[in-house]
Amino acid sequence: MCGIIGFVGKKSASPILLEGLRRLEYRGYDSAGVALLHEGSLLVRKKKGKINDGLARLLKSEPVKGSLGIGHTRWATHGAPSDKNSHPHLDQSGKISVVHNGVIENYDSIKQKLLNNGHVFKSDTDTEILAHLIGEYYEKRRTKNGWGEHPREPKASDGSGLSGASPHQTNGNGENPLTLAVCDALREVIGTYGLAVICAEQPNTIVTARRGSPLIIGIGNGENFIASDANAIVAHTKKVVYLNDYDVATITPERFDVLNLGTDTANVQISKLEFDAEDAQRGKHAHFMLKEIYEQPQTIANAVRGRLDFEGATARFGGLNMSIAELRGIERIVIAASGTSWHAALVGEYLIEELAQIPVEVEFAHEFCYRHAPLERDTVLLVLSQSGETADTLAALREAKRRGHRTLAIVNVVGSTIARESDGGIYMHAGPEVAVASTKAFTCTLLCTALLALNLGRVRDLSAADGKRLIAALGRIPDQIRQVLAERERIRQVAVKYMQRSSAFFIGRTHAYPVALEGAQKLKEISYRHAEAYQTSELKHGPLALISPDVPTVAIVPNDELLDRNIGALHEIAARSGPLYVVTHPGVQVPDGAAAVIVVPKNEPELDPILLTIPLQLLAYHASVALGHDVDKPRNLAKSVTVE
Ligand code: AGP
Repeated sequence: MCGIIGFVGKKSASPILLEGLRRLEYRGYDSAGVALLHEGSLLVRKKKGKINDGLARLLKSEPVKGSLGIGHTRWATHGAPSDKNSHPHLDQSGKISVVHNGVIENYDSIKQKLLNNGHVFKSDTDTEILAHLIGEYYEKRRTKNGWGEHPREPKASDGSGLSGASPHQTNGNGENPLTLAVCDALREVIGTYGLAVICAEQPNTIVTARRGSPLIIGIGNGENFIASDANAIVAHTKKVVYLNDYDVATITPERFDVLNLGTDTANVQISKLEFDAEDAQRGKHAHFMLKEIYEQPQTIANAVRGRLDFEGATARFGGLNMSIAELRGIERIVIAASGTSWHAALVGEYLIEELAQIPVEVEFAHEFCYRHAPLERDTVLLVLSQSGETADTLAALREAKRRGHRTLAIVNVVGSTIARESDGGIYMHAGPEVAVASTKAFTCTLLCTALLALNLGRVRDLSAADGKRLIAALGRIPDQIRQVLAERERIRQVAVKYMQRSSAFFIGRTHAYPVALEGAQKLKEISYRHAEAYQTSELKHGPLALISPDVPTVAIVPNDELLDRNIGALHEIAARSGPLYVVTHPGVQVPDGAAAVIVVPKNEPELDPILLTIPLQLLAYHASVALGHDVDKPRNLAKSVTVE
């Protein structure tokens, strides 16, 4: 959702911030802005709308100088999208500037207190309230006797590698007044924040803090960065520190110091980013979504690489952190996820139950937290998340941990909050996924779930023959995906012809039902056409009433034990003149008159969903292009939903 970037160094900050904001665009936003410090004054430029049409133009006509700055892409929560509600916001004095991701829940009561103190607000945002609150505390912190009794000061953990060092700008008590003011304000705040603050009186300092909204420090040479997403800074540095909840960091060109509001010392670890700036570029493709669809032969190969044990006919992972005895002891698995990842969870349910014979339940992550369903002691919570930052999914993870359950995660973004907070897990290794509509991460989640199911099966009763069958099948997938991609032009023609209708059905059974759900979701997200998925067998219990020449049905018909019944359902649709678009396997006889048949190579039933999904991704993509929509940044949607 919202994005943050910050820079402190010797270079001109404006182009670095603007480029960083562009790299955050994919997350979804409605306005953008920057604040720079130049010769003791804060210069703020912000504008509603896309960066190119708004902020970039403004910066051209009203350039800003300075080598310290913060920038923001805003996704409206409090207050409509507008210039005045865009970030950065200033405090009452105009000396302090703040960008903020998240929601300040008690902003009303804080606002009332500030109004009573004579504050005047210019926007409708909770962030401006926070800026004013920090400003008020800053005044108290910098005037020596203004504060009275100090609350316990949190202890700093020095991330510079210089033990015992303290922040280099102090108010005489070994602390930076801006850092202290931010800490004071945050102690009063209820809600979530990823925060960056600069002050006209602190020419070399950014103070940043997180609770529930990701933030990283990028470590450069004589310059440092902050960002809510590594994409924004990977072109400048690969050395990063992922902040934890309640961390407050003070960043200067030469060093950074982290303290934690909740514990005595902060846990600072320097990590290396595993991708390059080019990985997050579109390259020769017209859209990120198309690029990511085309990357799938490679991403699937990457997700498998190094994880197959041919001798043991199983899959192995470095990060599950569970012994064989513990894996055998799992009595039940609950999979929690959101959106597309939830569809992957439904496939995972089939796979784990079939291969490992462990009962599995799939929950919407947001429901898991509130259902208070009984869980047996040896239940493991598995969460699936591309971003590793989805607030609902993170909340489910934390709830399971609170209840004393072991948690595992399948995550794409290395170092994300879910990856760090789960007890063990599997990285997808799909590389940065920029398009809002998830494609390669979905198929990699299916792949990783299949590997997990294989591993769980082989420590139980799954035969070596079945293990070998799956391992051989995994090796075939990349080439089979290439074969599906070669059908692109035919799929495009179908999309142009049928998918512009205002409504479409997607149907499938067992493993193919989640594929149908995912196909419908893709079409909805980027073409804005109504699409609904049904279990094929449910049609006659209601939805069949809607079948007509105006409502195309996309039927996922694998060559499996339900083939005859599925073909029967297709005849029922054809008899009602419903246009049929069938995704199926070689040799399947579909009813005469089907509008289009896309044949994908047959793999093993456990892995077929990966291949059956790809034509649906292309279908949605081409429908969106034909309709002239913004494929990569669909309206109203954000890449990573970091608020509950
Ligand atoms: C996918 O196309 C969607 N943009 C959305 O449903 C997404 O899958 C969902 O928000 C969960 O995201 P996550 O995998 O990053 O947790």
